[in-house]
Amino acid sequence: MIDLTLGHYSPEVAGHAPRAVRPSTEYGPPLGLDALRSTIAAVNGVDVSSVAITAGASGGLLATLVARRPTSHLLLPRPWFPGYVGISRALGIPTTTYDVDDRAGANLIDVAARNGATTALWNMPHNPSGRHELPGERDQIEQLIDNGAFIIEDLAYDPVALDPRIVQHAAETPTHLVVGSMSKSLALAGERIGYVIGHPETVTSVATSSWSVLMSVSVVAQQVAFQTLVDDQAGVHSEARRLHRQEAARLAQLALGSIAPDPADAPYFIWLKFPGARLSSTDLAVACSERGVRVSAGDVFGESAPSIRLSLVSATLTDIKVGTGLVGAVLGEVGLLTER
Ligand SMILES: Cc1ncc(COP(=O)(O)O)c(C=O)c1O
Repeated sequence: MIDLTLGHYSPEVAGHAPRAVRPSTEYGPPLGLDALRSTIAAVNGVDVSSVAITAGASGGLLATLVARRPTSHLLLPRPWFPGYVGISRALGIPTTTYDVDDRAGANLIDVAARNGATTALWNMPHNPSGRHELPGERDQIEQLIDNGAFIIEDLAYDPVALDPRIVQHAAETPTHLVVGSMSKSLALAGERIGYVIGHPETVTSVATSSWSVLMSVSVVAQQVAFQTLVDDQAGVHSEARRLHRQEAARLAQLALGSIAPDPADAPYFIWLKFPGARLSSTDLAVACSERGVRVSAGDVFGESAPSIRLSLVSATLTDIKVGTGLVGAVLGEVGLLTER
């Protein structure tokens, strides 16, 4: 069975050197290990006081929402990364969604105005669709913040060196916080290391909340993350992984035609949506699984139209070629793939 569900790298694709780490006897500092924090700060051109280490982007999102405790509706993208809904439910935070289509920024502004919402999540590149931020949307996000919104910006799919305009704005603005992850950029999903970048006051309050719910982030994992980051300062490993995604997207295009994304984007996922199709998302995922390839059903991401998501990082190129071919065959049989 070829598994194209989760967005974590397969060990063959990640290409890490084996590493021995020593057990730690002490909790780590609430803001994270200095060496790791200051490397992330240096890479992004901000002061170390603007960075805290979290237990993955998931831990960063949890701690941010614990610190912020929105009482009005938290605005979530739709479709969404399922963790947003899990955390909001656990904390009893009411939510409303805005659609991520080609006018996501405008949709967010409209929904924020309608709901008088003060806290929103913005996630680009977007999971599950792989969509990138479009020109003009940065101005819209900054405008929303100027108008009093608190924006949590989930950049889990970006490299560690983020867009300087975004990090500088976050470092200077108490109501703008960036949440990052090493799961994707450094292929370290199992280490559970993420970080937040923002104004020092906001970052400290997130680190305090993180400590209050989880104590410190794993010290061993932070050491591994620091070493991996130092090893990859020249970007050799991350470039190899980008090339893997690009080639995987090209293979997917051969199997799926124009419904597959542009390989130039080197996406992590392929998101296939079939509005009006007779089969449900689960029907499509089950049909793929019966053929020997596991994919994620779109309803997991809150998508009501029939849809599936395929990971381009969880398998080798050989398996991606076979797996996307099998998905193409299934879609062809049910009349959802007419040209290649
Ligand atoms: C959009 C998004 N945010 C956050 C996360 C969580 O990342 P982490 O592994 O760093 O907790 C994921 C994981 O897939 C994701 O897709």
